[in-house]
Amino acid sequence: MTMISEPGENLRSRAEDFQNALRAWFLRERREMPWRTVRNVYRTVVSEFMLQQTQVETVRPYFENWIKKWSDFAKLAAADEADVMRAWEGLGYYSRARNLHALAKKISKSENVPETVEGWLKFRGIGDYTAAAIASIAQGVPAAVVDGNVVRILARLTADKTLFKDGGASVKHFSMLAKSLMNTAFPGDHNEAMMELGATVCTKHNPQCGACPVKNFCAAFGAGIAAELPKFLPRATKKIALTRALILRPEEILLARHHAKAKRLSELFELPLWEAIFPVTPPRERAFIFEGRRGIADESIVERIYSADAPRGMLPESCAWIAIAELESCTLSGPHRKWLRSILK
Ligand code: ADE
Repeated sequence: MTMISEPGENLRSRAEDFQNALRAWFLRERREMPWRTVRNVYRTVVSEFMLQQTQVETVRPYFENWIKKWSDFAKLAAADEADVMRAWEGLGYYSRARNLHALAKKISKSENVPETVEGWLKFRGIGDYTAAAIASIAQGVPAAVVDGNVVRILARLTADKTLFKDGGASVKHFSMLAKSLMNTAFPGDHNEAMMELGATVCTKHNPQCGACPVKNFCAAFGAGIAAELPKFLPRATKKIALTRALILRPEEILLARHHAKAKRLSELFELPLWEAIFPVTPPRERAFIFEGRRGIADESIVERIYSADAPRGMLPESCAWIAIAELESCTLSGPHRKWLRSILK
């Protein structure tokens, strides 16, 4: 009789050996990170917010600076919103800073820190991954994190050739397996070990299978197909072209502020879109000043900046004249700060 085995069944049956090999490697090889030196709930929450969609090396100086400024929930809760936004500037995805500030206020007010994944999920800006990361790392809750790194590891361990339409589908596909592999004695170590393995050994390109602490559990390594997994349908990047207006008057520049409820860049200043100021006229070539490029999520954006005279009529409500001398302390988006420094120098 042939047995039809569940994907990952072989791995599940050796789960304890897998966990031990993974954790021993992690304790030996883990990289030093500022949020790993002293552990508490606050530091874990801050680091996990910062690490959403952002690499460890980028986060490192921001985290250190943040902890120096605000060392606990109460201090962050009392901070000025503009200071909070400024300390986040350059990290991108700015709603994270606002959500983190709001979380600190709520926690300080209620004097109640959640202790479960469900409790953390109630806060804006905390999804399944971050809730599991915080609860496991800071509180020892056995909840498995599943993100692109973990998906990659699990797809390879089980040589799973499923073609996923996107990251979300792959996370859903592997969440049961991730859960059943959880090291319930050391949930935080286990999750961080998975993150670390995905970041340093089981990498997307050129996985270092020779150095892998769990290669003996890995079906893709056995079959020599690790680098081919997981499989995703190709995703096209959207190309977007924007035109911006550089409008100066003595000592001042016209900037537009993104709406507080905007999904991206909320409340940050940028040069106004040309069409927000001037209804029809396309810019004349001779007024071209600068071309900048930025990437946000799956969009590749080219922004062409043209100089113009101040319009006579009403300005949109989002626009404000900002003193050029105060640009450095104004909460600009990262790319626009860089471009304006170069344009105005
Ligand atoms: N990415 C998300 N959370 C992380 C953590 N705690 N350590 C390293 N990388 C991470």
